[in-house]
Amino acid sequence: MGSFRGLALIVLLILTCSPSLTRSAELESNFVELRCGNRTFHNARMTAIYFTDNMENIYTKVQSNHFGISSTGSGPDKMYGLAQCYNYLSQVECALCFSRLCTVAPFYFPDISGRVYFDGCFLRVKDYRFYRETLGPTDHAICGNSTRYGPAFMASAGKAMVAAVSKAEANGGYGEGRESSSAYAMASCLRTLDASGCRECLSNASASARRCLPWSEGRVDNTGCFLRYSDTDFFGSGSKGMNKVSMKMASALIKSSLNFKYSTLAKATGSFDAANKLGEGGFGTVYKGVLVDGREVAVKRLFMNNRH
Ligand SMILES: *[C@@H]1O[C@H](CO)[C@@H](O)[C@H](O)[C@H]1NC(C)=O
Ligand SMILES: *[C@@H]1O[C@H](CO)[C@@H](O)[C@H](O)[C@H]1NC(C)=O
Ligand SMILES: *[C@@H]1O[C@H](CO)[C@@H](O)[C@H](O)[C@H]1NC(C)=O
Repeated sequence: MGSFRGLALIVLLILTCSPSLTRSAELESNFVELRCGNRTFHNARMTAIYFTDNMENIYTKVQSNHFGISSTGSGPDKMYGLAQCYNYLSQVECALCFSRLCTVAPFYFPDISGRVYFDGCFLRVKDYRFYRETLGPTDHAICGNSTRYGPAFMASAGKAMVAAVSKAEANGGYGEGRESSSAYAMASCLRTLDASGCRECLSNASASARRCLPWSEGRVDNTGCFLRYSDTDFFGSGSKGMNKVSMKMASALIKSSLNFKYSTLAKATGSFDAANKLGEGGFGTVYKGVLVDGREVAVKRLFMNNRH
């Protein structure tokens, strides 16, 4: 591929359920949880297209707003998506967090719906309009189990949570709490919830999170809100381990990969014609393509392991 000049690698989509795939590579730092739905999709190819389009739509909104919703497709595999970054992330950190969501999300396939949580952002995709839901049967707390503290930490963490929750309720669904340098908390509701939905969800989340005490860390991934307390200052940890250059490259890559619609790439590669194959990679096949404006691109098509 070295002779292929002006090569722009476009990672179209990772669609795989292959359990042999090293999840650990994707589920690296800051990954919290992946939850699958309970209904599988009908048409793998259409689902892939709907999913890509959905993520593209959401990404354009997330870039400017830390939040986006989108519905794509039709018929039985119509899908509704929502992604949100917590306010403490910068624009670039949010874009990176979103790209991680997109990478991990297909692990819930072939279920049509799923949720992915990272520290910093989350994604939810469902087969119905879920935007106003506050609580669900699978909502639960994830407790850290490395350090146990005494009553002083329990009191501080409790106060930090109360502060975060009351700020979130007063300030449009997002709040932070700090107790000197011993306890930190963050509360965030889906932007689609109204004030009473947010309150209902956070009051449940507070009660759940308290059950994690006296452990050093508690996270509650509720259907309509998120609450976290910690003994570590996690605000500003979004860019940890990432220098300016790699952040710049990453955001450029996200931009280039998401600025193309599936149909555009299919056209550029002659519907992924075997004649345009450049090679097989670990995750899928790379095709050579020519865009309408004459630019040559390499398109990496990442396959879903279709179990149907
Ligand atoms: C799937 O989950 C939804 C809500 O989470 C529930 O209403 C429905 O009954 C479930 N369906 C099955 C087949 O379990
Ligand atoms: C703490 O959690 C980790 C990961 O879930 C688990 O492997 C480990 O056994 C747990 N340790 C204790 C003491 O519960
Ligand atoms: C939070 O709501 C869920 C779903 O309704 C419920 O199962 C759970 O018991 C509630 N948790 C608390 C602490 O109230």
